[in-house]
Amino acid sequence: MENTRIAFFDAKPYDMESFDEVNKNYGFEIKYFKNHLSADTAPLTKGFDTVCIFVNDQITGGIVPVLADNGIRLIALRSAGYNNIDLKAVFNRIHVVRVPAYSPHAVAEHAVALMLSLNRKMHRAYYRTRDHNFSIAGFLGFDMFGKTAGIIGTGLIGKTLIRILKGFGMKILAYDVHPDKEFARETECNYTNLDALYSGSDIISLHCPLTAETRHLINEKSIAQMKPGVMLINTGRGPLIDTKALIKGLKTKKIGYAGLDVYEEESEYFFEDLSGEILSDDVLARLLTFNNVLITSHQGFFTKEALHNIAETTLKNIRLFLDQGILENEICYQCGQEKTHCNRTKNGRCF
Ligand code: NAI
Repeated sequence: MENTRIAFFDAKPYDMESFDEVNKNYGFEIKYFKNHLSADTAPLTKGFDTVCIFVNDQITGGIVPVLADNGIRLIALRSAGYNNIDLKAVFNRIHVVRVPAYSPHAVAEHAVALMLSLNRKMHRAYYRTRDHNFSIAGFLGFDMFGKTAGIIGTGLIGKTLIRILKGFGMKILAYDVHPDKEFARETECNYTNLDALYSGSDIISLHCPLTAETRHLINEKSIAQMKPGVMLINTGRGPLIDTKALIKGLKTKKIGYAGLDVYEEESEYFFEDLSGEILSDDVLARLLTFNNVLITSHQGFFTKEALHNIAETTLKNIRLFLDQGILENEICYQCGQEKTHCNRTKNGRCF
């Protein structure tokens, strides 16, 4: 049997290291491409069985026929999120699998890092003391204990975050289209509607997927409902927030803090060293001027444990499909949820 060939896009040195290590047990032939998968690079997939992609590789309707004609049978995402795939275009042509649970701890802990840093001004204190400025003026924080966190999306990451914040003694308001009542009982968190979450939370953290429904979930109208000085944390996907509305909220001080691991137009910037370049995105440039905004470059997932688990699950997904036709972590094309979790599936069809 010919060796399975994987075209691996947006390859960074840390990806190659973790995949090469895990691939010792699989023996696939992996060709690493530094570029994103796009209309320009799609022709490179000729002769491969599978493409392996990350969050900023876009599978648009236009490139699906190119991939299919080149013999690609599987798109293996190295991520949990799958908003970069045109699910309608791949339906009946190429299967898509993802890594649903490589480490909810990595992302939840990063959300907490953003909260604590913003609250206690760690990002500013670091520079102040290095400059021998030992004044603490302007660094007044607040106790997390007793405050209310609003968590939107209580899947793996949202739930992990709730457990951590309960440890701080915070009260939790949660919103999810599929509330988990058992979890709510166990952790004593309260599911509520979005209006009540917006108006009742001191910190709001986003952990739902990016869908047509959740795009610009945080907008002028929702910001208007929030408490003055609210802290907004986004480790989900950039377009969950209307960035222009966020900037307006920051300028009027309605929003007191923003911790962003993702950004609406991140694909050109995040994960790249552009320190020698002029930043052409004026919205991102404006965001970076606020000292109560902390931006990290989509690094929530970036722990040793997560990288290992991503490599292990991705290669296992590929092996299971190519050897046995099993699609363990396939996404449902109709509802966009993972098939095993798609509770609307009936007779193999989601309605
Ligand atoms: P998950 O699939 O376990 O949970 C998502 C939850 O959101 C589910 O409970 C679902 O019912 C809920 N949901 C779906 N539509 C909703 C809506 N309209 N309103 C409210 N809730 C809704 O996913 P997981 O692993 O918890 O990840 C959440 C998101 O975090 C991913 O979709 C991805 O975009 C993002 N992510 C970011 C990473 C980073 O490095 N910053 C890394 C991994 C994931």
